[in-house]
Amino acid sequence: MATTSSSVFERVRERFPALRAAGDREVFFDNAAGAQVPDEVADAVRAHYTERNVQRGGHYALSRAVDEGIADARHAIASFLNASSPREIVFGLNATSLIRMTAEALRPRLKRGDRVVVTELDHESNIGPWLRLESSGVEPVFWRVGGGDAGRLDLEGLAGLLRAGAGRVRLVALPLASNAIGRIVDVAAAARLAHEAGALVFVDAVHYGPHGPIDVQALGADFLAFSGYKIFGPHVGFLWGRADALRTLEPAREFFLPGEAPYAFEAGTQSYEGIAGMAAALRYLASLDGSGSLRRAMARIRAHEAELASTLVLELGRVPGVHIYGDADPASVDERVPTVAFRLEGRTCSAVVEMLAALGIHARDGHMYAPRLVRALGLDPEDGVCRVSLCHYNLPAEIAWLAETLRAMK
Ligand code: ALA
Repeated sequence: MATTSSSVFERVRERFPALRAAGDREVFFDNAAGAQVPDEVADAVRAHYTERNVQRGGHYALSRAVDEGIADARHAIASFLNASSPREIVFGLNATSLIRMTAEALRPRLKRGDRVVVTELDHESNIGPWLRLESSGVEPVFWRVGGGDAGRLDLEGLAGLLRAGAGRVRLVALPLASNAIGRIVDVAAAARLAHEAGALVFVDAVHYGPHGPIDVQALGADFLAFSGYKIFGPHVGFLWGRADALRTLEPAREFFLPGEAPYAFEAGTQSYEGIAGMAAALRYLASLDGSGSLRRAMARIRAHEAELASTLVLELGRVPGVHIYGDADPASVDERVPTVAFRLEGRTCSAVVEMLAALGIHARDGHMYAPRLVRALGLDPEDGVCRVSLCHYNLPAEIAWLAETLRAMK
């Protein structure tokens, strides 16, 4: 019998050791900084260390098992993203280092006067590495956010930059969702514009990763990066690159190793335990759908989180003195993930988040690694915003506790 969506989500908390230990005494609302892991992920990491902690590429059985585990994980990630082939999946330390690696591998292919478009909405990890290309004469241009403190990226803004670039824009780097304000970006439409102008498209999908299905074919991008620890896995990163886009990059490997993707971009020993844990995280996610389909499970998560997001925005908006940054309409769930940035009148964000912490509510204050966005919202990045970031294991009762606590602070 197919399991209904609500019953699946009611029971998932039992599968997370940290959530079992916390009971109802602690609220995990800092998931954008790293999500909790289910038992099977912790077990897979432990099994790597206790059962096959050896180097890959040997002729002995344990080493072959490591090779097979890596191949299986690559395959699972490729189907998670709807990639054409597991060879399009590159493992790395985290998304930040993979974005840097991609920018450096693209550097030799760029010339003075070429342009890269970066956005004001991004985490700095998808801005800084592209700005560093300036030292080779590449000109970065900013796709600015509009809409006051709504923090919107309008497609007309990108179209204008591409027109002004007159064929010189070689790459557009953008996020799938903002880690600071939770806004989802229409990457497919942006990719169409970028491709018409002859530019490659690099997507930071780190923040969107745990919240819904990602289909790289439908997005139409060329590269996409995400991190395992945001999606119920260990601290590892993944880069997807369309096969022909990966061929445009300068390999970053020792001369005797294969020059083709993915190996050309996986210098050094990877985190085999992390890769094993990531495969387990995807198995966990797939188990949230009765039929075991990962894509359907992610669609269920998206639908379930829409309710959480709507309740969160509604409840926060009702607290006197709370001002939400980003989309403040509880009905706009198609355009956001359940990550909300706000300020409470008369209090600094550090004071608010410290008071929440004292009661067991984990949140975050500051610029969220997106100081350019925070400034564009009219705020001082030093104090920034208060951010609560939920995922599928959070509960409406936790939102009610947050709202009640904020009400008492005013
Ligand atoms: N990128 C992480 C965050 O948004 C660390 O908190």
